[in-house]
Amino acid sequence: MNKLLSTLFALLVASATGLAHAQAAPAAAPGAAASAAAASNVKQSAPASPASLQAKIAMCLGCHNIPGYQASFPEVHKVPMIAGQTPAYIETALKAYKTGERKHPTMRGIADALTEQDIKDISAYYSKLGGATTVADKPAREPSPQVAGLLQKAACVSCHGANFSKPIANYPKIAGQHKDYLYVALRAYKQDNNPTLGRSNGIMAGIARQFSNAELKAMAEYIGSLDGELKTVSDSRFH
Ligand code: HEC
Ligand code: HEC
Repeated sequence: MNKLLSTLFALLVASATGLAHAQAAPAAAPGAAASAAAASNVKQSAPASPASLQAKIAMCLGCHNIPGYQASFPEVHKVPMIAGQTPAYIETALKAYKTGERKHPTMRGIADALTEQDIKDISAYYSKLGGATTVADKPAREPSPQVAGLLQKAACVSCHGANFSKPIANYPKIAGQHKDYLYVALRAYKQDNNPTLGRSNGIMAGIARQFSNAELKAMAEYIGSLDGELKTVSDSRFH
């Protein structure tokens, strides 16, 4: 890395880390504060000329490339793994934060700072980060009869694919994703009428609402316990 880039990198990581802490602040208007901080920090630190991929992903490293890193909004949970995710889904998710279809103050601030081209480049980058891992079509672990019934009721594999790792269209791989994040994400699809929280996805809203939170948690525990293709690639290799 040349000097300019490493300075930029340090700035961006610092602002990302600041954001993570901002999220930990008391619940008073967490959305507005974190969102404004994210937008202004990121925009001020962004180079005026077309940014290199390295500079773009520097905005993400402080959260998505630290194994076990926790977020605290809307409750403490691990930051989702995005390395190895399908590129079309990463793109769709970033756009959903940008439009507000997915409400999440920090990710909205981040996504707002990205252009269409940035989103394409970053999605391609993260989908390949860490190399390809392919899991077998059959999960190594069978669900309990109760969980098997829940998974069948909504035909989760018909969209998320064999072993929850071969999704159709621009849908996500979910096998092996952090259990606590899966649970938060599933509940978010049930949430509406909240300015800073919730996902208004037409497909998953109808599905998540068929289940109690305890049932969503049981499915999240099982799906998160499977081997998957998602990873967190440590940011030590970027320093
Ligand atoms: C301050 C920490 C932080 C930073 C910095 C950050 N993210 Fe995130 N990201 C999160 C959290 C927390 C979530 C979960 C949000 C939710 O619940 O919807 C998330 C969610 C995502 C998702 C959706 C994952 C999924 O499975 O649906 C994508 C994609 C993503 N981030 C990409 C990025 C990219 C690309 C960058 C850099 C340009 C970035 N993030 C920077 C914390 C961060
Ligand atoms: C008809 C297709 C379909 C079915 C059936 C389906 N899903 Fe989904 N799922 C989706 C789509 C599309 C998304 C992405 C929505 C978005 O953009 O937020 C998604 C997102 C998710 C997410 C969020 C992943 C992330 O990284 O944030 C989880 C968790 C999830 N689904 C679990 C399930 C479970 C559990 C079932 C069965 C009970 C299920 N899905 C059934 C289409 C489906």
